[in-house]
Amino acid sequence: MLPLSAHSSQLGCDPYNRAMEFSEVVRKRRSIRSFAPEIPPSDVVDRVIDTARRAPSAGFSQGLDFLVLDDPHAVATFWRLTNDPNHDVRRPAGEAPVVVLVFSDPKRYLARYSAEDKLEFQLDDLDRWPVRFWDVDGGMAAMQLQLAAVDAGLDTWFFGIGYGEDAIRSEFSIPDDRLMVGLIALGYRADDEQPTGSGTTRKRRPLEDQLHRNTW
Ligand SMILES: Cc1cc2nc3c(=O)[nH]c(=O)nc-3n(C[C@H](O)[C@H](O)[C@H](O)COP(=O)(O)O)c2cc1C
Repeated sequence: MLPLSAHSSQLGCDPYNRAMEFSEVVRKRRSIRSFAPEIPPSDVVDRVIDTARRAPSAGFSQGLDFLVLDDPHAVATFWRLTNDPNHDVRRPAGEAPVVVLVFSDPKRYLARYSAEDKLEFQLDDLDRWPVRFWDVDGGMAAMQLQLAAVDAGLDTWFFGIGYGEDAIRSEFSIPDDRLMVGLIALGYRADDEQPTGSGTTRKRRPLEDQLHRNTW
């Protein structure tokens, strides 16, 4: 039996053998911006990434890559390089011990949609795509990653790179042709974590405002 982390056992979560109801996972997920320093087990993180990569992908292009930073030195470098001195409000109160960077590779979509069975869609030119499926796939995988993480007893925060992308690319040898879809902080919420961010200052739109049935 593998040891459980202090946080996951505290929370009553067993990251190795846990089956949460889907609705519970959805309800539990919220953007956590203050993390405890404890590093989640790497096999749990690997399993979360494995679940993320099973999200739908257009034509099964599978044009996503995941860069996991879980080495304390790499993670500290990441937080340092992305620290915008002019906008420190973007910083998490407790920096997460793991960061997953999600990348898309438009070339894979182009190659897939240039194949015989897809040519009828006339998407064999990147400029003709009305919706960029590599962005769509990236969002789907990022969501699946977050839900898998919550299911495994972790907390998550999806955010966009606001500062330091070039430095990150150079530091971690990220190929120039990969697009950065977003970043997901992973870990365990700090004991004194409090909800922050837009979700605390804005009301959720009512369902009837967003749901249109049969006609708009
Ligand atoms: C595409 C996208 C970009 C986001 N970028 C940021 C960000 O840069 N900084 C941040 O604090 N939160 C960011 N968020 C998190 C949202 O603010 C958050 O999901 C929203 O306020 C709802 O709160 P909840 O996730 O707790 O339900 C982002 C979310 C998405 C989907």
